[in-house]
Amino acid sequence: MVLIGFMGAGKSSVARELAKSLKMFNLDSDNLIENSEGMSIPRIFETKGESYFRDLEKKLCSFLAKNITNAIISTGGGFVNTKSIKQIGKIIYLKSSFEFIIQRLQNGENSKADFEKRPLLKNLDEAKKIFLQREEIYQKKADIVVCIENKTLKQIAKEIKNKIKD
Ligand code: S3P
Repeated sequence: MVLIGFMGAGKSSVARELAKSLKMFNLDSDNLIENSEGMSIPRIFETKGESYFRDLEKKLCSFLAKNITNAIISTGGGFVNTKSIKQIGKIIYLKSSFEFIIQRLQNGENSKADFEKRPLLKNLDEAKKIFLQREEIYQKKADIVVCIENKTLKQIAKEIKNKIKD
């Protein structure tokens, strides 16, 4: 199962909640990339550039498609653009408006860190443009769409579990 959606939609937290209640393992694409590079995402963007990071996402995607079953995989917001993502498993799109995500990040306890770890959220006008381009791609790739606005982690996880049964 693969969770997709825009930065800050809560993919990692929802994946952890789901993994716990389904007794499965959670893997996170950004964490896997950071671990294997020995560098944080902002540092990779800074020193190697975005296209290097996108290549790592592609490589990771084919690795996951070939080697991983029975896991809940949370992904970075741009991972959706990897070609073989659908071969990894069922795709679940955590959907939200841009405004809801930004407001939640701004009001959150770790607001500063949440923005600092996301190089593409530095400029909100640019981020909104990416959001508008991505919306259609997320929707197209998704097998299941769950709106996350004003819902708790538990509610979102429950909704996903009900929808994957159908
Ligand atoms: C990105 C999203 C980030 C991270 C990188 C690029 C994107 O992950 O992969 O900063 O292109 O949307 P989150 O969605 O977990 O913030």
